[in-house]
Amino acid sequence: MNEEKNKHTKRRSIINIILWGGLSGFAASVAYPIIRFLTSIPDAAAGARSVSAGTVDELAPNSGKVIRLGDKPVIVIKTSAGDIRAFSATCTHLACIVQYRDDLEHIWCACHDGHFNLRGKNIAGPPPRPLEPFEVNIRGNEIIVSKAY
Ligand code: FES
Repeated sequence: MNEEKNKHTKRRSIINIILWGGLSGFAASVAYPIIRFLTSIPDAAAGARSVSAGTVDELAPNSGKVIRLGDKPVIVIKTSAGDIRAFSATCTHLACIVQYRDDLEHIWCACHDGHFNLRGKNIAGPPPRPLEPFEVNIRGNEIIVSKAY
């Protein structure tokens, strides 16, 4: 009799586990799309028109760095003469992200060996167009990069 009761208890436990597992799966399948929807609301930075690229002193002459302006990568360069310029970091060939090559003293795309001069003009390799320029303003010691109008 006691053995019969244990069997029932064990069976009930298994049914409970299956039932709760199913309910948990259902709850997750309902909650997941709601959470995805709520977290996909664009933040204010995505539509930003300007961003700080750090300070003038942080960027060494003959160097560059890639920052984000909204959802766009932007390469900010400081020439050997100390001029600060910014361009879209998206290569005009097949959209790889370009980088600054201090040994060449210009912008380079590693994907297919594309070269751009310090004005963003395509000078060698397959890129068909110059890089889109961005506006640079110095506020105090801070580099502010903005979308060009
Ligand atoms: S993607 Fe830049 S050279 Fe091809």
